[in-house]
Amino acid sequence: MEQHGNKTSSAIRDDDSLKAVQDAYNTKAKAGTNVAYSKTVAEAFGYTVEQLQSIPAESNMGLSCGNPVAAAHIKEGETVLDLGSGGGIDVLLAAAKVGQLGQVIGLDMSADMISLARRTAKKTEPLSASSLFRPGSFN
Ligand SMILES: C[S@@+](CC[C@H](N)C(=O)[O-])C[C@H]1O[C@@H](n2cnc3c(N)ncnc32)[C@H](O)[C@@H]1O
Repeated sequence: MEQHGNKTSSAIRDDDSLKAVQDAYNTKAKAGTNVAYSKTVAEAFGYTVEQLQSIPAESNMGLSCGNPVAAAHIKEGETVLDLGSGGGIDVLLAAAKVGQLGQVIGLDMSADMISLARRTAKKTEPLSASSLFRPGSFN
């Protein structure tokens, strides 16, 4: 395996891929969301109209690839970690379930997604109290 300083070629390729994904999501966060499109995507993944109305539209970026809160059986008082939290849709929906006694942490490697999610969460006073967003990678 080729060595570059203390990194192999494959480690450098992994770094490049991660940076490309990060850049793409930073761009997406800065572009904002098309509310009608994002609602259609979320509903296709089983998010209900009531759920989507309970959170700010900006938290739904139309990036759903599942509906984890529907599957997770989250209970009041639990601590939940959302890996790749994006605009915060699932963090805020989970925050409603854990309530004031619980905590939901959104982790995302896109600094712009984290900024967007923090701004958006502030619009939901009761939910923002039990949710927080942290920049970081789970790789
Ligand atoms: C498909 S989007 C989903 C966002 C959100 N969960 C939703 O359903 O709208 C994936 C998110 O995961 C983040 N992400 C991807 N790989 C990651 C990694 N290795 N570490 C941290 N965040 C990551 C991206 O920056 C992006 O915001």
